Amino acid sequence: MTTPCIIRGLGHCVPETRLTNADLERMVDTNDEWITSRTGIKERRIAAKGETTVSLSHQAALRALEHAGMQAEELTHILVATFTPDSYIPSSACMLAHRLGLHGRTCMDVSAACSGFLFALETARAFVCLHPEAKVLVTATDVVSSRVDYSDRGICVLFGDGAGAAIITGDTGVAPAGCGRVVDVLLATDGSVSDLLTVKGGGSGSPCKPGETVRRDFFVEMNGREVYKYAVRAMSSICKTMMEKHGLTKEQVDVFIPHQANLRIIDAVGSRLDMPAEKIFTNVHKYGNTSAASVIIALSEARSEGFIKDGDTVLLSTFGGGFTWGSALVRF
Ligand code: UT7
Repeated sequence: MTTPCIIRGLGHCVPETRLTNADLERMVDTNDEWITSRTGIKERRIAAKGETTVSLSHQAALRALEHAGMQAEELTHILVATFTPDSYIPSSACMLAHRLGLHGRTCMDVSAACSGFLFALETARAFVCLHPEAKVLVTATDVVSSRVDYSDRGICVLFGDGAGAAIITGDTGVAPAGCGRVVDVLLATDGSVSDLLTVKGGGSGSPCKPGETVRRDFFVEMNGREVYKYAVRAMSSICKTMMEKHGLTKEQVDVFIPHQANLRIIDAVGSRLDMPAEKIFTNVHKYGNTSAASVIIALSEARSEGFIKDGDTVLLSTFGGGFTWGSALVRF
C-alpha cells in the first residue's frame, strides 16, 4: 500500500537566450520549413555562460517553494534528474542543497535521460512512503546545449535547455487547495536498444585522456528514425496500461502531457490514444526538447496558465535514452 503523495508546488525556469530556426539556418544547412514540418519546433532556450543545471534548478526550486508557500528549510530530500550534471562529483543535488542553504539533507541525482522527472518522482514517492513527514524537492533539469554539437544539423535543431521543479509531500488529508495528488507512476526501461540514443564520451566506457581533443561521442548521438518509432509505441502503450489499471476512459482524462520532443511524436501518441488534440498540452514549439525538464516544465506551465483546472485528471508520459519511459497520473 503506497502512501498517497501530493504535489505541493510547481515551478520552472528557462534561460533568457533564444535560438530560433532562423539562427540555426545561419549555423548549419537547415531551414525553418524542414525543422517546423519535422519537429514543430520554432525556437529553444540556451543557457548563457554561468547558467548551469544547478543554477537553473535553483531558480525553478525557488519558484516551486513560493508556489507551495514553503521555506527551503522545510525540505528533507533533494533530487535532481539530469544527464547534464554540473559535475560527476559533487552531484548537482548536493550543490543545489548548498545553494538553498541546506545542510545534512538526503541529496542525489537521478539518471534516466528525458524520462528523468518521472523516475525522480517515483523515487520521491518511495521516500515519502518510508518517511511520511518527508518534503521532497524534485528538480528535473538539463543544459542539453552542453552536449550538443552545433555543427550536427540532425541533432542541434532538436534540443533546448530548461529546469522544472516539484515539491512532493505525503498527503495528510489537509492539503491546501490547488495541490495535485499523484495517483500512480509507471516506469519501464529497455537497455537492449541503448545504442540508438547515447552520450558516451567521458564515461568510464569511453574515458577522456589528458590533452585529447573532444571526440564525437561527447555529444548526443541518435538514430532519430528508430527512436521516433520506439518512442511512439512505448509512450502510447504505457499510457494505455495506466488508463486500464485505473479504469479510465479517454473522456475521463482531462489533460495529456507527453514528453515534448517533437510535435509529430506527440500527435502520433495522441492519435494512438484517441485523445482529442485540445486536451494535449504542448510547448515544444517554444523550448524544443529539454530532456528531463520537458514534462515538468509543461506541467508547471499548464497549471500556471490555467490549462489544468481544479479537479482535472492529468496523464503524463515520458520517453528517453536508455531507453527509459513512463507515465504518471495526477489529480488536481
Ligand atoms: O527524447 C527522445 C529524443 N529523440 C527524439 O525525440 C527524436 C526522435 N526522432 C525524430 O524526431 C525524427 O527522426 C527527426 C526529427 C530527428 C528526423 O526526422 P526524420 O523524418 O526521421 O528525418 P531523417 O533523420 O530520416 O532525415 C531525412 C532527411 C535526411 O536527408 P536525406 O538522407 O534524405 O537526403 C537528413 O540528412 O533530412 C535530412 N536532415 C535535415 N535536413 C534539413 C536531417 N536533419 C536536417 C535538418 N535540416 N536539421
